[in-house]
Amino acid sequence: MLKYTRQSDPELYELVLEDLKRQENTIEMIASESTVPLEVMELSGSVLTNKTLEGLPHKRFQAGSGVVDKIEELGWQRAKELFGAEHVNLQSYSGSTANYSVFAAVLEPGDKILSMRLDQGGHLTHGSPANWVSKIYHHDFYGVDPETEQIDYDALEAKAKEVMPKLIIAGASAYPRLIDYERMAKIAEEVGAYFMVDMAHIAGLVAAKVIPSPIPYADFVTSSTTKTFCSARAGMVFCKE
Ligand SMILES: Cc1ncc(COP(=O)(O)O)c(C=O)c1O
Repeated sequence: MLKYTRQSDPELYELVLEDLKRQENTIEMIASESTVPLEVMELSGSVLTNKTLEGLPHKRFQAGSGVVDKIEELGWQRAKELFGAEHVNLQSYSGSTANYSVFAAVLEPGDKILSMRLDQGGHLTHGSPANWVSKIYHHDFYGVDPETEQIDYDALEAKAKEVMPKLIIAGASAYPRLIDYERMAKIAEEVGAYFMVDMAHIAGLVAAKVIPSPIPYADFVTSSTTKTFCSARAGMVFCKE
């Protein structure tokens, strides 16, 4: 493993080895981590690391992009087939930046977002004061019913009608229940909001079709490619064509 690094930077090599041993001897119960297939390791360290790219396939700012154009288009084709989506963008560096790109595409500074409370399962990028996004948009939150510990859709609907957000976000970091996307899409439609689902944690289960997909219901679906999807560190944004 790492035969060149072992020679040129033994200190760094030892540290990587130390983490390999840790990974081999512990089970990390962190929902956002997974152990990727060897192909992902191989491709992450491939010659493609040498390529700088800006723009979309066939509209790049850099020369020599013909092969990577084909690879990106292959990714589009596979992601669209796998998730049954009309359109996909695979350029986000992570699930967080996938979320930021949707915000940047449809919101203006000061616009209102309604999302799940962080302490009831939501994610930092959905409006937590710990995240810079909270300084740009106005955030309101929905939560779970204290009795059932499931999303309180009636309260969510009432909140949406009260604040009239421009974007409603479903999806969470810590909500081990199915989400009623149909109901949430209806609420969004009623108040004239875009509906986005952040499926970062469940993308692998959606891809494997073991739980319902948000794709038919949402204007935008974002995801990490890590977590249950078990791929390299990046993000995806799906939307209607
Ligand atoms: C719901 C949700 N969205 C987005 C992210 C951010 O993903 P990434 O680490 O790929 O930026 C996370 C991270 O755990 C998450 O739980």
